[in-house]
Amino acid sequence: MLKVAVLVSGGGTNLQALIDSIGNGSIKNAEIVRVISSKKGVRALERAEKAGIDAMVVARRDYDSAEAFDKALTAALKECGAELIVLAGYLSVLSPELVRNYENRIINIHPSLIPAFCGVGYYGLKVHEEALARGVKVTGATVHFVDEGCDSGPIILQKSVEVREDDTPETLQRRVMEEAEWKLLPEAVDLIAAGKVRVENRKTYIS
Ligand code: GRF
Repeated sequence: MLKVAVLVSGGGTNLQALIDSIGNGSIKNAEIVRVISSKKGVRALERAEKAGIDAMVVARRDYDSAEAFDKALTAALKECGAELIVLAGYLSVLSPELVRNYENRIINIHPSLIPAFCGVGYYGLKVHEEALARGVKVTGATVHFVDEGCDSGPIILQKSVEVREDDTPETLQRRVMEEAEWKLLPEAVDLIAAGKVRVENRKTYIS
């Protein structure tokens, strides 16, 4: 059974998709052993509590330095025995050391078709504002392994979503979440839990 830690910062809709997918059996052989939020009082923590999942806050602002924050986060991950770390709307930056220690065992959901509209500063609504400003006809979401860069790790799954002429950033974000994010993230966790994802030369191969 793959032990999964889910890192959150906000609404937790991607966390909810994972909880529901484990509950209905579309994710097999995985369990969420801990939810770690970067902020207090967010909806994601309520979702974890409702699902009976161990949840805690490790907030950068509570620590004097990035090193102390990283040490606390690492300890929280080790304590629950996390074998896979899922960044689900997580907005804190992981240290290069933590990423190295969990090479190809951290995945992130990004609300665009990487390499479009990604990198430093591209998160939340901004991603969709930029897509609409550029006038793309198709956008989507990407699940990728996390490396020491920003949104630059090996791509695992992608799913496209049409952009409508009357879209606002909000309507586009919602459709990308519903039609892509909430499907891709559970599918990626299930594939990894089944040992079906291999990484070679920064590309993934799914068996
Ligand atoms: C979503 O747009 C997701 O793509 C991004 O964070 C946003 C909030 O996600 N990573 P959630 O509702 O907190 O899962």
